[in-house]
Amino acid sequence: MHHFRYAGSDLQCESVDLAAVARLYGTPTYVYSASTIEDHYKRLQTSLAGLDLQICYAMKANSNLALLKLFSNLGAGFDLVSGGEIRRVIAAGGNVKTSVFAGVGKTEAEIKLALENGIFSFHVESEPELARINHVAGTMGVKAPIAIRINPDVDAKTHAKITTGKSDNKFGVPLRFAAAAYEAASKLKNIELKGVQMHIGSQLTSVGPFVEAVKKVAPFVAELKASYGISYFSIGGGMGIVYKDSLASGQPGWWDALPPEQRPLTPEVYGEALTPLLQPLGLKIVLEHGRFMVGNAGVLLSKVEHLKRGANKNFLIVDAAMNDLMRPAMYDSYHEIVPLHRDTSRRALTVDVVGPICETGDCFAKDRQLQEVGEGELIAFMSAGAYGYTMASRYNTRALAAEVLVKGSSFELINARETFEHMIANEKVPAFLR
Ligand SMILES: Cc1ncc(COP(=O)(O)O)c(C=O)c1O
Repeated sequence: MHHFRYAGSDLQCESVDLAAVARLYGTPTYVYSASTIEDHYKRLQTSLAGLDLQICYAMKANSNLALLKLFSNLGAGFDLVSGGEIRRVIAAGGNVKTSVFAGVGKTEAEIKLALENGIFSFHVESEPELARINHVAGTMGVKAPIAIRINPDVDAKTHAKITTGKSDNKFGVPLRFAAAAYEAASKLKNIELKGVQMHIGSQLTSVGPFVEAVKKVAPFVAELKASYGISYFSIGGGMGIVYKDSLASGQPGWWDALPPEQRPLTPEVYGEALTPLLQPLGLKIVLEHGRFMVGNAGVLLSKVEHLKRGANKNFLIVDAAMNDLMRPAMYDSYHEIVPLHRDTSRRALTVDVVGPICETGDCFAKDRQLQEVGEGELIAFMSAGAYGYTMASRYNTRALAAEVLVKGSSFELINARETFEHMIANEKVPAFLR
């Protein structure tokens, strides 16, 4: 499921030696595999081949312009959540006309920008938002295409912070209020009822909750088709990826060797379970996967600063930190950590892998067994392609990392490491302090 593997002792992305990338561009640096992304996109497409499908890549997972162009070349639209993301799609030469606009708090300016660029559909989260879209469309003399997001109250069985389809989450309209919401929407002059949407959460590792949500909502979708002639059903994104055995999961045969009941969710299992439920609706099906597309397609390269011996444990201090890869601090999430140069003759160390930031939470792994690595040696955080760079910050005035895209034996810098001058460019000391 990805193109990262050791060639002899050295970790490669496709045919590129990752240590060479680190030497050229420094660390921390994100590296993405274009072939992995292409494979994932095509596998998802093939797995639901029986459907009239539009894939809208959830660009919040990774919105680098190069990746957006790659998706656009594959025929993807985008799942957008801000005016900034609309501008990114345009800057990358992507198509807003096949993209959908989600989010609970779209501003008037963002709605206008989406309409000016011919958005395929707004995914509406509430009646006040619907009124706002109707108003903005009216001032522009156009009709706004919309789908209402249904909250099906299904437990996605994932981390609480990325569960979105339960009744106490902020997202969507409860199924029992949805008919009234559509009726109200149908009476608005500047609204075109185009579809229906749901998204129950992220990093789902089994197909059950997807099936439960589709089964719950599908009869209502069929009613909407009959009464309003809607043309599409978006079932959101959320397909989970492998984090724990990330490196092994990319090697040929790894999946086949697992007993079926232990196999992580694959697009094939997803497609096989959902196609028979969706096909009878006779609608376009929109998918909004983000993590599945890019998560296993990226790593974060980092350099060891020190091995520090503490009172009770050892700390491996590296030059990446929570500002570069927020997921462990935010969700206690697991990222496999591997050396770029593997040396099986070395002993194993048990360490906490930590960054240089002044927070105890700046910790990537606790009591992790790693091959002994010393100052200046390089490591990779696996499965860092999704919600890595896009969630990065400048905390502790640390510059945003560099990003590199690999294809075969070629690689190119797709985002230069931020400079200090760029970080402070918009700041100024007011006259009364001078
Ligand atoms: C509305 C919507 N669609 C799609 C996604 C993508 O989720 P994932 O990256 O898990 O596929 C999200 C993520 O939060 C979302 O909010």
